[in-house]
Amino acid sequence: MGQDLIDRLCASIENNEAMVMSDLARFVDGVAQRQFPVDSIERWLRCVHTHGISVDETTALTRGMMNSGAVLEWQGQANVADKHSTGGVGDKMSLILAPALAACGLRVPMLAGRGLGHTGGTIDKLESIPGFNCNLTPIQMQEAVETIGCCIAAQNDAIAPADGLLYAIRDVTDTVDSIPLITASIVSKKAAEGLNALVLDVKCGKAAFMKTEQDALALAESMVGAAKGLGIKTVAQITDMNEPIGTHVGNALEILGSVLVLQGKGSSDTRGLVELQGGQLLELTGMAATLELGIEMISAVLENGEALRLFIDMCVQQGTERNVAEQLASEPGQVLPKSKHVTSVTAQESGYVQTIDAMALAEVARELGAGRFSMSDTINPGIGYVLQTSKNQHVSNGQSWILVHHDLPLSFEHLSRINDALQIGTEPTAEFRRLIRIIT
Ligand code: URA
Repeated sequence: MGQDLIDRLCASIENNEAMVMSDLARFVDGVAQRQFPVDSIERWLRCVHTHGISVDETTALTRGMMNSGAVLEWQGQANVADKHSTGGVGDKMSLILAPALAACGLRVPMLAGRGLGHTGGTIDKLESIPGFNCNLTPIQMQEAVETIGCCIAAQNDAIAPADGLLYAIRDVTDTVDSIPLITASIVSKKAAEGLNALVLDVKCGKAAFMKTEQDALALAESMVGAAKGLGIKTVAQITDMNEPIGTHVGNALEILGSVLVLQGKGSSDTRGLVELQGGQLLELTGMAATLELGIEMISAVLENGEALRLFIDMCVQQGTERNVAEQLASEPGQVLPKSKHVTSVTAQESGYVQTIDAMALAEVARELGAGRFSMSDTINPGIGYVLQTSKNQHVSNGQSWILVHHDLPLSFEHLSRINDALQIGTEPTAEFRRLIRIIT
């Protein structure tokens, strides 16, 4: 079924000719309705993966995937915003950003994913909060946003269902790493939220899926092109993902680190990224005249407790008991799951931190239970790290630089990989900047 259609589409791609847009729309519809055999879809995916497709075709594919399920609709002001990150180590921005943006007057219907490879997932982190329910229907998302201003829900089959099947086939056919396919997959789900503005955090470096600036740039430009093609004001920020973000890494530990930032304390690295992404969205939606003023607005709601109050409201709206949510906001360590052991690892020499290898730390954490190797694996929420130093700080021989939270015994090999993640030199390096460049 649909063989002629798929033959025509593949012939166009192979001959570098434009696909007929109505054929492409019928193909995406057919995928969503499960009308085509898997091997035909696989053939089309391989064609796109090998030959690529144009910006217009990528936009049309994205639009088709968006329309394959529910698209949220909003009345009134054009103030619906969200961000997407391509995945990092210690990347807890969404947990802080959603309530902070809502406190600034934006509506944030955030869809998020689970951990992928070595990177953590927002949904796994939120599920370490007692009672927190990420399984919202589109109607429940809309109710939550109309009531409190934000929600964070797991991607599900009601939204962009064509992506669900395409992603599953890409995963087993080694066709995940195609820029048009990644673009359509990510942007279709965000566009289905009915957004006016989108910030894309495209991570770049050893612990990112895009290792080089050139690859990160290509993905950023493709996603910005497709999102703008769908009428969404969009900016991409390419950010460094060599060093872990902030001080806390791991599922429950990242909730703890987020609460600290929402209390107006916590890591300045984490807070800086939240302000940058939030400030950009406030500028894009016209709520702030400039990026700098947007950054100031985010900073103000982190300082005055309004973002923390909305975080509590979001937890309650999504199923957590109010008294538990309030205790989480004041004494997070009393509410969140913990590991059985905490081991302090010390520096082997004195000097300035040259780098902390986020990828090496993430791989060990994953082996200790903080991440998955297959989708059926269960996450242990208490596992992870609290970093006690960062790039360019001075450490002394024997000083504790990281606390490892673990249940399994730490093997000699794990310890030596953690030790090797810290590189020390005699002089500080050039000033560390998380933001590499902005693509508009
Ligand atoms: N995340 C997605 O949702 N889709 C991709 O293709 C890659 C990352």
